[in-house]
Amino acid sequence: MALLEVENVSKEYRIPGQPPIKVLDGVSFCVDAGERVAITGRSGAGKTTLLNILGGLDRPTSGKVKCTKDVGFVFQSFRLMPELTVLENVLLPSMAGVEGSRVAKAPERAKMLLEKVGLADRAEHLPAELSGGEQQRVALARALMCEPEIIFADEPTGNLDAMTGADILDLLMGFGGKPFALVMVTHSAEAASRCDRTLHLDAGCIASD
Ligand SMILES: Nc1ncnc2c1ncn2[C@@H]1O[C@H](COP(=O)(O)OP(=O)(O)O)[C@@H](O)[C@H]1O
Ligand SMILES: [Mg+2]
Repeated sequence: MALLEVENVSKEYRIPGQPPIKVLDGVSFCVDAGERVAITGRSGAGKTTLLNILGGLDRPTSGKVKCTKDVGFVFQSFRLMPELTVLENVLLPSMAGVEGSRVAKAPERAKMLLEKVGLADRAEHLPAELSGGEQQRVALARALMCEPEIIFADEPTGNLDAMTGADILDLLMGFGGKPFALVMVTHSAEAASRCDRTLHLDAGCIASD
């Protein structure tokens, strides 16, 4: 059964006084539970726009996205809260809305996740005291906090050197525990090759699947 159904999604950006920019033009696909999907395409192809729409961070101009509510996000630029400690950053999703109230023993889970990403000893540090790779590991723990069924990752290794990026990818691919589907925007052929499928975006459409 599909976890995510994308039906004929189009997106136009409208800037007053200018012609609309059509970024996505009738994109349709499904993602099954546990499936790993890479999204590729040149810069400006609409990958981030698509991922944000899939994850409910943005709305399509037309078309539909049917998705489970349990999602996690990993961004290229980490996007940790600078004033919160590492542990507080991981705990943050568990404090928000209905999702969070369903997480039993949130502090224990956050500490377990930090241990799994190898940062148990950095729990009380601030993000600025961590390297980029370490910050992305915190972001990964945060994304997994509410036990999502699907993780959206937008170039999760794009700001990291090759070796650190490979470590993050290994973590993402081999996390263990409750399985999750992964939809990952990437420019890395190696990362794409580790997914079950690659969707290539070109001119607003899926050029190959
Ligand atoms: N908020 C916005 N307003 C207007 N244009 C946008 C906005 N966000 C993205 N775009 C444009 O949409 C296109 C696709 O952007 P994006 O989805 O970020 O591409 P990618 O992630 O593939 O590099 C680009 O041409 C970009 O300039
Ligand atoms: Mg992008």
